[in-house]
Amino acid sequence: MLSHFSRATLRSVSLFLVTLVAACSPHAAQAGASNSLMDISADGKLLACSNRDSGTVTVVSLANHKVLREIQVGKHPEGVSFIGDSHNLAVAVYGEDKVLLVSAPDGGVIGAVDVFDEPYGVVSTADGSRLFVTLDYPGQIVEIDTKTRKPIRTIEAGPFARGIALGPKGERLYVTEFYTSTVRAFDIESGKVADEWKGSSTDNLARQLVVNPRRPKVYLSHIRSRVNEAHGSGSIFPYVAVPDTRPGEGSRRRRVPMDTFGQGRITANPWEVGINPDGTQLYIVFAGTNELFAANIEDDDYRELVFRRMIIAGNNPRAVRVSPDDQTVYVYNALDFQVLALKTSDLSNVATIDVTTNPLTSEVHRGKILFYSALPPMVGRRWISCSSCHPDGQPDGRTWKNPEGLRNTQSFAGMAYTHPVHWSADRDEVQDFEHTIRGPLMQGQGLIRGAVNPPLGKLNKGLSADLDALAAYADSHDFSLSPHSKGGLSDAAKRGRTIFFSEKANCASCHSGPFLTDSKPLSPDKLIRHDVGTGNDDPGEKMGPAYDTPTLLGLYRTGPWLHHGKATTLAEVFTKNNPNDKHGVTSHLKENDISDLVEFLKALPYEQPVPDVARVSKVEKK
Ligand code: HEC
Ligand code: HEC
Repeated sequence: MLSHFSRATLRSVSLFLVTLVAACSPHAAQAGASNSLMDISADGKLLACSNRDSGTVTVVSLANHKVLREIQVGKHPEGVSFIGDSHNLAVAVYGEDKVLLVSAPDGGVIGAVDVFDEPYGVVSTADGSRLFVTLDYPGQIVEIDTKTRKPIRTIEAGPFARGIALGPKGERLYVTEFYTSTVRAFDIESGKVADEWKGSSTDNLARQLVVNPRRPKVYLSHIRSRVNEAHGSGSIFPYVAVPDTRPGEGSRRRRVPMDTFGQGRITANPWEVGINPDGTQLYIVFAGTNELFAANIEDDDYRELVFRRMIIAGNNPRAVRVSPDDQTVYVYNALDFQVLALKTSDLSNVATIDVTTNPLTSEVHRGKILFYSALPPMVGRRWISCSSCHPDGQPDGRTWKNPEGLRNTQSFAGMAYTHPVHWSADRDEVQDFEHTIRGPLMQGQGLIRGAVNPPLGKLNKGLSADLDALAAYADSHDFSLSPHSKGGLSDAAKRGRTIFFSEKANCASCHSGPFLTDSKPLSPDKLIRHDVGTGNDDPGEKMGPAYDTPTLLGLYRTGPWLHHGKATTLAEVFTKNNPNDKHGVTSHLKENDISDLVEFLKALPYEQPVPDVARVSKVEKK
């Protein structure tokens, strides 16, 4: 009896202590302290999640786990955050370059703040007076005054800034670069870089981070893209990185491998992490293998995390958040359009909440699930999915050493209209990626039953509904207009356009039509490829030196350029990489002319291209 009594007392004392710690730390239960696709209000009453495919934000009452309302916000919302301790929300509407402020209970729009391009992550100060928003492509942090709803400061953050979190005392911002996983701390008052934690040179796709309110640590998930290993057993790896925020030298950033963490369970594509209010538990969602992991945060500086529990969450989990009372963990399953409510203690299900209806056609939806899946039949050994290198159809910023040579990952924007695909035009339909699925990279069983046609041979379309769905999804990405031509072409871009269309430079002889490419889906013997002098000096090149003319639309955000990624600036396409004027005639151009030409290229597309239907309608072959 006595021992039972004392154990109960002990438990309530420790519970009391935990609550005390949570209450004393201003950050612990603060809504909007770190970016996520999901947030919980400071009072624990409301949850909001952004539905990228639906273009909405859904507000859920946590008292009964019922949807209160779904608010239309615009194309591709990403980060969502409660503002201070209020029930107002800030939403980063990535596809419309605006931050929308809305009232969660009634859905009323409070204001919209235009930003330069691609707002991704958003956090709010504890008092709700300021928002800080990362802009992905330009790599900036924008500070917004919530009273006047005006941007008041722009801080250069490093290219492709995505993750953002406020330090425990609100004096610092931690920001991640998407394509490097570099974490920087910015002193909010001065806007200067106060500290920096670089990852390994292969680190990639870090889109979010959280700060521990109790220990001097931040946590971010990312992958490694080992570009010299284009096979399934060594190319993509999942991690949680743990930078130590104390000033000083030495090993200041641990990296916890997530493929050996969960008792031998290999995971893929960690998307976001969540931390509990007292900083003792970390949760990680894997968007490729569909798990939720729960880990104990250790009070050491070497293990950092110890595996506690896991569950299969659902399709494509992209966000995880813990309630302020530490009782419930919420997981956002992006391709089930659901939020799961789970008990933090044992991850048992408390509720499953439908937060939006599937806005995709059933075919594109199926294809998207397959594209994100790192499970059979897509892969043999987990670790990797199509989306590991093509996240949301964007490039992974890498040049892979493929068996055919160096190949920079392309964007899928407008791909439906620019078949054939690959730099070498060696595939004429996305269904040909059955070869990738079955090949050394993914080692999957594949989607077609039986034999696959060779890439440029008879069509693989029509042989598997799943493979057709995968193609339908891959071909569903459209272009965003370039932020560099908002308000029209600049004078420099207009001069560049004149050069581009001049007979002398001759660019438009290949970069023609609405997508600025002459590439057409023709029979293999008639495929159009050009030797522009870029494929001769690489001993590893097996398919060159003639390549498919790439579209130039959307080029401003897809560096490095050329098939081998050796042009690290657009100017280098014409300077370093065009010594003999084989790639348009550019040797006569002066430095100003080149920079005008680059201004023009950066401004593409400045209007939505209208596909030439006749040209793209069918793969023309027997
Ligand atoms: C390890 C990284 C990686 C993985 C995994 C991957 N790709 Fe790719 N993908 C690339 C690279 C690199 C290229 C450029 C290759 C080339 O042009 O030869 C590319 C090109 C493409 C293209 C052509 C784009 C264009 O505009 O020409 C398509 C379509 C594509 N991939 C689809 C897929 C599909 C579908 C999967 C999954 C079955 C997949 N990829 C898996 C790296 C990857
Ligand atoms: C003879 C056909 C041809 C002409 C003329 C031509 N291009 Fe290209 N362009 C290509 C091909 C083929 C590639 C791909 C080469 C490679 O990746 O190695 C390419 C690649 C590019 C790229 C890199 C695209 C990317 O996504 O990395 C840019 C930029 C570009 N061209 C601009 C121009 C400009 C500007 C001109 C005129 C000065 C021009 N091109 C003239 C065929 C041509």
